Amino acid sequence: MTRICPDPIPKRARDLFADMEALTARFSALAAGIGCLSIIDLARLKPLMDQDEEFRFLVSLLSSAEERLLAGFTYPKRRREWLGGRLAAKRGLSRTQATEPAAACWYRDYSLLPDASGRPSLHDYPAQEPIPAISISHSREYATALVVATGPCGIDIQQKSAQLVTVQERFATEEELTLLDRVDDLRTRLGILWTAKEAVKKCLLADQPTFFGRISLTEVAYQSEGAIWKVGCRVTGRDGCTATVRIAEFDDYLIACTAGEPYA
Ligand SMILES: CC(C)(COP(=O)(O)OP(=O)(O)OC[C@H]1O[C@@H](n2cnc3c(N)ncnc32)[C@H](O)[C@@H]1OP(=O)(O)O)[C@@H](O)C(=O)NCCC(=O)NCCS
Repeated sequence: MTRICPDPIPKRARDLFADMEALTARFSALAAGIGCLSIIDLARLKPLMDQDEEFRFLVSLLSSAEERLLAGFTYPKRRREWLGGRLAAKRGLSRTQATEPAAACWYRDYSLLPDASGRPSLHDYPAQEPIPAISISHSREYATALVVATGPCGIDIQQKSAQLVTVQERFATEEELTLLDRVDDLRTRLGILWTAKEAVKKCLLADQPTFFGRISLTEVAYQSEGAIWKVGCRVTGRDGCTATVRIAEFDDYLIACTAGEPYA
């Protein structure tokens, strides 16, 4: 079981973690049966990164390797989304790991670092085998992370921005848009497609630089309980394997998550 830190937590940081719990609770149905999804409001994180005491505290939650990585980012937005993703992932790990005292560790006792492809991977994690898999995504005001006990996983959050419409020919086909024709709003339709393909890429094609052309939407269903889209995708070039992605809408965003080995 991972725990936040051995020291007292400053009040504003405690409020940030309480806010993350409340926000995350809204998505409990989305990742049900997949893993643990956590989401953090980056607008709430921003002021803490500008305050000495709170920022020192937040950095104390990182391992020294993570701290060095954060120090290398110069743009405030990138620092915020990177740290937000780590906090969400570490929160998820603290919820999914074994509870034996021997396995307990603090957030800073292990590192979540990019592998050669950029995918986050755990180092020096003291808890039991198998080592959990983690996926991270951020978009504008939110960062989110998915933690699964075993096997690859992928998460994507995307604001329904006008840019989705501008670049739609790069990731959407007529057939795929037809499968989604019961969704009236074009940005929502495109956002479902985009987040599904990004989540599948992170899960199954992490080491592939190009991927949109290799992932096709094959079926769409809507589950009214929890208001979740269940989207089937086929991945070409991997023996025709398939993946199921669960997608939810909230405010102006879509969040998609998937996990598991490919099914041929
Ligand atoms: C890098 C990529 C994995 C996601 O990029 P993105 O959608 O811009 O960003 P997201 O916020 O959703 O995801 C970023 C996170 O993905 C993770 N990630 C990066 N590379 C990854 C990979 N190869 N596999 C799995 N996860 C990866 C990282 O954790 C990263 O966050 P961090 O660096 O703060 O830890 C990849 O899908 C990509 O390059 N997308 C670009 C899409 C594109 O081609 N756009 C052009 C217009 S069509």
